[in-house]
Amino acid sequence: MPAKLIDGKVIAEALREEVKQKVAERIEKGLPAPGLATVLVGENPASQVYVRMKHKACQEADIISIGHTLPADASQEEVEALVKELNADPDIHGILVQLPLPAGLDEERVLNTISLQKDVDGFHPINIGRLAQKGREPLFIPATPAGVMYLLEDSGVELSGANAVVLGRSNIVGMPVSLLLVRANATVTICHSRTKDISALIREADVLVAAVGMPEFVRGDWLKPGAVVIDVGINRIEDTTRKSGYRLVGDVAFDEAVEVAGAITPVPGGVGPMTIAVLLQNTLRAARLADGNKNG
Ligand code: GUN
Repeated sequence: MPAKLIDGKVIAEALREEVKQKVAERIEKGLPAPGLATVLVGENPASQVYVRMKHKACQEADIISIGHTLPADASQEEVEALVKELNADPDIHGILVQLPLPAGLDEERVLNTISLQKDVDGFHPINIGRLAQKGREPLFIPATPAGVMYLLEDSGVELSGANAVVLGRSNIVGMPVSLLLVRANATVTICHSRTKDISALIREADVLVAAVGMPEFVRGDWLKPGAVVIDVGINRIEDTTRKSGYRLVGDVAFDEAVEVAGAITPVPGGVGPMTIAVLLQNTLRAARLADGNKNG
């Protein structure tokens, strides 16, 4: 029997609607609309697309969003000065510095400059440090990893005691999602470019989160029958039958995996929409923190 589809588009839409309603309730009470500032340095085309999508989503949820762009040759001081200005702006509740930054800029120093209470991406070293420690609570959880966990929870996947394999150890997805899975009491194996016999490790996985950016890397016969597969990859491959000349595929060979897995996310329409929905949720939370609501 083919796997159940985990429809990120539908789940994200419901979350976006929930955020929109809570924003409306705030405004009704006379509280300010949440405000998000994005900072885009340089002209990375993928980053430009992502930032545009984030602004559009904010607009639809009645969240105010203000985009700042800096040239690719902006200095470290210029980027940090902009972040500090946004830290001091009471109308801005959340700050998102789109990554990756152009070569030559110190990403860690920029992220460290963002006010902890406005760190809607959850990449501030203190937020990530808290995520990695037992009994500590980060103020914000990075959007894509939080979106992965939301999909797993929404699909009723039992994580406690499950074998989870995470493919990839990036700061943005692989590492934080691994930390979240540990917090959910899964037994987590992180696989990366130096891992020996990845397919054998994946065969033991009840839950697989693939985030390596390699088109259709995971084959269907690597999966344990009934496994839950969350595919974070968004890769372009050539497709001459399409007008655009390409199509998007994940890190998992979907057509093979769907015959073996118990549940699987499609690409596109799986994790992607969740990232934006969680960003809106985090921005609302930032506004609630600014109201003086300690729990956001
Ligand atoms: N680049 C890729 N994903 C993300 C994200 O979630 N946030 C930011 N700021 N940059 C990214």
